Amino acid sequence: MSEIYRASTTAPVNIAVIKYWGKRDPSLNLPTNSSLSVTLSQSDLRTHTTASCSPTYNSDSLLLNGSPQDTSGSRTQACFRELRSLRSELEKSDASLPKLSTQKLKIVSENNFPTAAGLASSAAGFAALVRAIADLYQLTATPTELSRIARQGSGSACRSLFGGYVSWEMGSAADGSDSLATEVAPSSHWPNIRAIILVASSAKKGVSSTSGMQQTVATSELFSHRAKVLVPERMTKMKDAIKRKDFAAFAELTMRDSNGFHATCADTYPPIFYLNDTSRAAIRVVENINAAAGRSIAAYTFDAGPNAVVYYLAEDEGAVAGVFKGFLGEKEGWGSERGGKVKVVEGKDLDENAVQGLKDGVSRVILTGVGEGPISVQDHLVDEKGEAVAR
Ligand code: ADP
Ligand code: DP6
Repeated sequence: MSEIYRASTTAPVNIAVIKYWGKRDPSLNLPTNSSLSVTLSQSDLRTHTTASCSPTYNSDSLLLNGSPQDTSGSRTQACFRELRSLRSELEKSDASLPKLSTQKLKIVSENNFPTAAGLASSAAGFAALVRAIADLYQLTATPTELSRIARQGSGSACRSLFGGYVSWEMGSAADGSDSLATEVAPSSHWPNIRAIILVASSAKKGVSSTSGMQQTVATSELFSHRAKVLVPERMTKMKDAIKRKDFAAFAELTMRDSNGFHATCADTYPPIFYLNDTSRAAIRVVENINAAAGRSIAAYTFDAGPNAVVYYLAEDEGAVAGVFKGFLGEKEGWGSERGGKVKVVEGKDLDENAVQGLKDGVSRVILTGVGEGPISVQDHLVDEKGEAVAR
């Protein structure tokens, strides 16, 4: 029987606090600005991927949550090609190694949260795919080196190769060799950052990030000021806020950057609107919470969709998550280990319309916090015969 080679990993979602929006090279996914994110805990949101190869496989394949995916797209192909080329170099340097680089790949993956619903599945998905194949090929590449490859799958995926606080430095080289992710600080540096995600809609989003950012680059007049002036300044300030564990500074930068990014979306011609009434209600309630505290203890941010991600510190859990639980306690999500521990707190001077808007528009909450990067696991989604494991 032919050997089946396997390696498995889990990988996290990341949510940017300084957003990537705009490409200077769409095929290499080279961005027009640097970005910075918080990696979220895999206890709550994770992708689990097994990469396998064998001389018996006839074609490359990818099974995601039980459904076959097209692997012929340029993004997946770029990841396969780059990883095979690194494996082939290893094989050339050591003739005793099996020639895995010439075998077809079978990838099986599971997301434990909705795919393509604005919850960064592409980031966790491509980070897991790249990490699992790199482990299968026994590559010695560092997470930063692998970030160059994951970035070609999906830009934001390059940041999911690390835990904690992660920057993606835009770089300037035309070949993308310096457009890489690096760790700003590990999660242990500032472990008490938490997040509550208010899932406004699990439906597929209207305008994909890939196409939305292209339209913004081509037509927005605000965009270049954001990319050239505002983001570089914010990157410096955000790294400093994280080093100093200054939540108020972190919060203001996060909210300003989300607002600024969505302003460039509205300035795209024709305009793109990712925020909806539920999103605006979440902004209002965060403002109420901060006003009641007399300082910024909660920070909202929105990706290319209406879901709110609200960051806060563990010590303010009651004053932030507890207030949301006060009126969203019936929604799915509080039954988790983390959610069950949140104590209900009655909010002060909450905007009644906003509270009603959230009650009407939020389908589910996810309680999470800062977490670790990809973790190698022995739980394989491909069995010893090379078949996908049915779950
Ligand atoms: P999201 O907001 O969830 O990131 P996108 O539409 O940007 O949504 O990306 C979804 C796409 O990412 C999927 O159609 C698929 O191509 C890819 N993707 C998601 N999860 C995985 C995974 N686990 N493995 C490989 N690719 C994945
Ligand atoms: C708003 O990484 O999904 O979430 O590179 O085209 O795959 P592609 O785009 P993607 O864009 C993410 C945009 C964002 C901001 C961010 O995560 O930094």
